[in-house]
Amino acid sequence: MMNSLHLLKDLRVLIVDDSAVVRSVLSKELLRSGVNAVQAENGRQAFNMALAREFDLIITDIEMPFMDGIELCRRLKSNPKTRQIPIVILSSLDSEKDIQRGYKAGASTYISKSQAKDSLIETIETVLQKTTFQRGRLILVVDDSLTVRTLVERGLKEVGFEVVKAENGQAGLNLLKNGVRPDLILSDIDMPVMNGEEFCRNVHSDPVLASIPFVVLSANNDRPIMRRMLQLGADAYLVKPFNVDQLVITVEKLLSDKLLLLHKEKERLEAEQKLILASITSLCCALEARDSYTRGHSEAVSYIATRMAAEMGMSREEIELVKLGGKLHDLGKIGVVDSVLLKPGKLSDEEFAIIKRHPVIGADILRPVPSMAGILPIVYHHHERMDGRGYPEGLKGDSIPLWARITAVGDTYHALTSDRPYRKGMEMGKALQIIREASGSQLCPDCVSVFLKLAPWDEASTAEKGDLVTGSSSDNPAIEAPKSLVIPVIK
Ligand SMILES: [Fe+2]
Repeated sequence: MMNSLHLLKDLRVLIVDDSAVVRSVLSKELLRSGVNAVQAENGRQAFNMALAREFDLIITDIEMPFMDGIELCRRLKSNPKTRQIPIVILSSLDSEKDIQRGYKAGASTYISKSQAKDSLIETIETVLQKTTFQRGRLILVVDDSLTVRTLVERGLKEVGFEVVKAENGQAGLNLLKNGVRPDLILSDIDMPVMNGEEFCRNVHSDPVLASIPFVVLSANNDRPIMRRMLQLGADAYLVKPFNVDQLVITVEKLLSDKLLLLHKEKERLEAEQKLILASITSLCCALEARDSYTRGHSEAVSYIATRMAAEMGMSREEIELVKLGGKLHDLGKIGVVDSVLLKPGKLSDEEFAIIKRHPVIGADILRPVPSMAGILPIVYHHHERMDGRGYPEGLKGDSIPLWARITAVGDTYHALTSDRPYRKGMEMGKALQIIREASGSQLCPDCVSVFLKLAPWDEASTAEKGDLVTGSSSDNPAIEAPKSLVIPVIK
């Protein structure tokens, strides 16, 4: 769940109930989460208040004098000024029929008074999450009738959706092929050039587009056609003439369910990634514990690569991937036997062939984990060379993934400046010279020039303090300098 304090802070809530006791209990409950709610005694008073000032959420009872909660919902949802306010129905009437009435009138959710004590705040968070997701979402409206397109556009825009229109399936498909990515598609069936059925089939046969909710709007209420459209992947079918309010509610519901699912899936993936990362980090620690000479190497490579990625203007997500990729790039060495990995002298050809397997082993370890897909190119390709003489694929130039080319520069530099059992680490000036000379043959020239621009990597002031090269050289919080970067570099 998202951070409730952040979500509920400054929330403007209206509580509508004819019982002063209920209003007071709810107000206190909300106040505990920092929400200062205002109160109305019945639907009529609430509706007038909603017209006069802005609310982020309305919680209403059903049975009240003058105007009940269902009528209040209807009025709020049919008024352009108030229709975007999410409504939570809170009532002791909780038969299936009442719940249906509430949803039909446009309520976002329904909660019984008996559940309210335990789940009110959680319910509010869920409703707000949905509403936040919805704002500014793009809907593609495909219909050959200008009247329908205009009517639907107006209804959707009133509640805050963005709209893009097309006059037939082909025009809709062209928009999608040109990169327009709606959050939901509304499409007629009978249209010239390409009908809705063909359009729906095209959308659902494209893996990128198939997940976009598809709603059919049609005057055709022939059951076999309706069934066929649903089989083709349509999520809902609305028969014309339709009521715009009902259409908006259907769109909101489909979209919020879909987006909430996506959000939950994202949260699940993030949790999984954290867990897996913890396991993989332990693996890396085990690797570095075996090989004291490379201890801290991964952290240092990650730091250099991350700063280079930030300097190149990569997005925060990309920088995070580079950071993680750097930390895990040599993971595959876990599969290299001690006699080879820890050998102090020069490696034989056979031994070198064993070492050369580590990018493949690393990628094999990470490949079954979907959330690690982004860093596979780094792990797998960090020993490729620009001239094609690298491994494992012998890729050349720009065909080597950029993140791997960046990591290769950090890897080479840190390897040169680290102590080995058979040699002392090089001093920075000499290592920079070697990097410069390797530009174009071994290393990517663009990456090398960024790397050199960021040099020196072993600022004396940092070393004197015995401190880290801090992330202060970049204001990107994804960047943390490892101690190990400084320790082996300063000689
Ligand atoms: Fe490596």
